[in-house]
Amino acid sequence: ARPKITVIGSINMDLVTEADRRPEAGETTLGRQFSTIPGGKGANQAVSAARLGGKVTMIGCVGEDAFGKDLLEHLEREGIITENVEPVTQLKTGIAAITLAEGDNSIIVVPGANNALTEDRIVQYENIIADSDAVLLQLEIPMPTVIRAAKLASKHGVKVILNPAPFQKLPDELVNDADIITPNEHEYVALMKEYSGDPNTIKEKLVITKGGEGTVFYKQGQEVHIRGYKVNAVDTTGAGDSFNGALAVQIAKGASLEDAVRYANAVGALSVTKFGAQSGMPTADEVHHFLAEQIS
Ligand code: RIB
Ligand code: NA
Repeated sequence: ARPKITVIGSINMDLVTEADRRPEAGETTLGRQFSTIPGGKGANQAVSAARLGGKVTMIGCVGEDAFGKDLLEHLEREGIITENVEPVTQLKTGIAAITLAEGDNSIIVVPGANNALTEDRIVQYENIIADSDAVLLQLEIPMPTVIRAAKLASKHGVKVILNPAPFQKLPDELVNDADIITPNEHEYVALMKEYSGDPNTIKEKLVITKGGEGTVFYKQGQEVHIRGYKVNAVDTTGAGDSFNGALAVQIAKGASLEDAVRYANAVGALSVTKFGAQSGMPTADEVHHFLAEQIS
């Protein structure tokens, strides 16, 4: 059976500007190209998991506007169950203003309708959460919603994977309810600085992504490093999301953490070879071929 993944998170339209350099404050410059492409950490992770064979249910909110309509249709085309993505009237669909310049991205996220995914809404979805093999969470929706979702999942023995991005201080109860927490290197540093609980409790749950260098986690206090893959990076936007979607599918299938991370590293690597957060996200077949090439 296909592993059942429920993603509770953000859905954004990415407004991407490519330019030679970022303008200084108060300066106007000419850019090279502009595109609108589906994004949002929640939606990106849902697409990653769906392409890799997960049966994915998305829970989220969009505005009743053109972006919201486009994004919903897009998720449906990816084979994601969207009956619980609610259009809301008061707020506009979330956007991310992304600048690609000087070989890197900078992003401003305006959550908009994503903030309408409240704790009250989440309790209505307890059955869906309970029926999942894994729940995947990020921090582009209100923190009380994330906390409640993790609590409901853990109450039903459902695996909780928390991608702590963009960074916010994690309350102890959320750390306790999460099985796996997946910061990148920057989020990891911030997390350890802000965390008030026992560092050993959180350490055993951490899976720290380090881009091309690979991924680190701790097993009985010992650091385990799973190597990354060298690829020609075109756009790293969404690399973490593709990793998380892949990790969720593997964990939901019952893979060991080592195997799940090795697989997710390959997915993350493939995702950066194409422009846009979701464009490079591979299918299970593509990952299979990529991994086979690495061995030979
Ligand atoms: O992780 C990448 C995503 O972060 C983008 O798609 C953008 O929408 C922001 O939410
Ligand atoms: Na990409």
